[in-house]
Amino acid sequence: MRVVQIGTGGWGKNHARILSQLDVLVAICDADKQRCKEFGEKYSVNQYDSIDSLLSSEDFDAAVICTPTSTHAKIATQLIQAKKHVFVEKPMTYLSEEGEDLMKLAERNKVLLTCGYIERFNPAVGIVKDFVKSRKYGELVMLEFHRENRMPLHIKDVGIIYDTSVHDIDTAMWLFDDTPEVIFARAGKIRHEHEDFASIMLGFKDNKVAIISSNWITPTRVRTFNAVCTDAIISSDFITQEVKIETNNDTEIPRNEKKEPLLLELQTFLGAIEGKNELLVKAQHAVNVTKIAEAALLSSQKGTPIYLDLK
Ligand SMILES: NC(=O)c1ccc[n+]([C@@H]2O[C@H](COP(=O)([O-])OP(=O)(O)OC[C@H]3O[C@@H](n4cnc5c(N)ncnc54)[C@H](O)[C@@H]3O)[C@@H](O)[C@H]2O)c1
Repeated sequence: MRVVQIGTGGWGKNHARILSQLDVLVAICDADKQRCKEFGEKYSVNQYDSIDSLLSSEDFDAAVICTPTSTHAKIATQLIQAKKHVFVEKPMTYLSEEGEDLMKLAERNKVLLTCGYIERFNPAVGIVKDFVKSRKYGELVMLEFHRENRMPLHIKDVGIIYDTSVHDIDTAMWLFDDTPEVIFARAGKIRHEHEDFASIMLGFKDNKVAIISSNWITPTRVRTFNAVCTDAIISSDFITQEVKIETNNDTEIPRNEKKEPLLLELQTFLGAIEGKNELLVKAQHAVNVTKIAEAALLSSQKGTPIYLDLK
């Protein structure tokens, strides 16, 4: 397997590290010549400063795109047209129509297209997903997410909904195993060019709900969620990966081995290319997340709920 890492910024450098560990990294591509050289030399692989030069000179099977959101659609289109399997960081595209086009293009070219909704690979989410599936603590009724951080200065092209809330939008759909019928949001901006705080409510059938609270104002890094089930409340932290279950009579802390979600995510991508895995994030799910992010922005601008009919 020959994999190329495109974009070696704040997050892409982690992908490069893991791809190199897994012994599949064959080249680095970054528009920033200095980064390109630094990571190419660090991992002793070929270096390219443009997608065109990469495609004309390197022989490879798959690529991980970790560039700013606004560039995803164009880069992914070029790669899929060249029949490469593609992993695109979240959100898959800036516009949901671009995501739908990519999905069709990938189907026509018979290549895999997936997106970096990494929390599905977080062991803390995995354990809650298993409880929900087995109904060990009854039915999942409500989800609450908090994702708070100091403002990331380098993110210029999108606000907090596209950058941050999308993780929780995907996790909510993953845990409920459903798509929401209605979206209502309040968002605003204090310091960023785009929105830097948002509260989003996703309404699922039977009055089930996910409340997503994100902001770039809190000086500390908070990433927590609660799952309210009919027989227990499960609370968890995406960072520590700890899970706590409170029932009427007891508090339980299940043993859960801490693992690096990015490693699990990339292993799943590589396994899927080899035809092994079924747990790849489907492109349709990534398109749904973008549609919900679009609806959340629209809802916050109009002050009304937005009803969606998602696939
Ligand atoms: N899954 C996660 O938890 C997670 C975390 C952080 C960021 N991300 C996502 O990763 C992506 C990148 O974020 P980041 O924080 O690393 O950004 P960044 O700005 O730190 O890095 C982007 C890199 O892409 C390069 N680049 C830009 N345009 C390019 C092009 N046309 N061709 C080749 N290289 C190009 C830049 O030179 C830079 O090195 C975003 O989509 C972001 O949403 C995901």
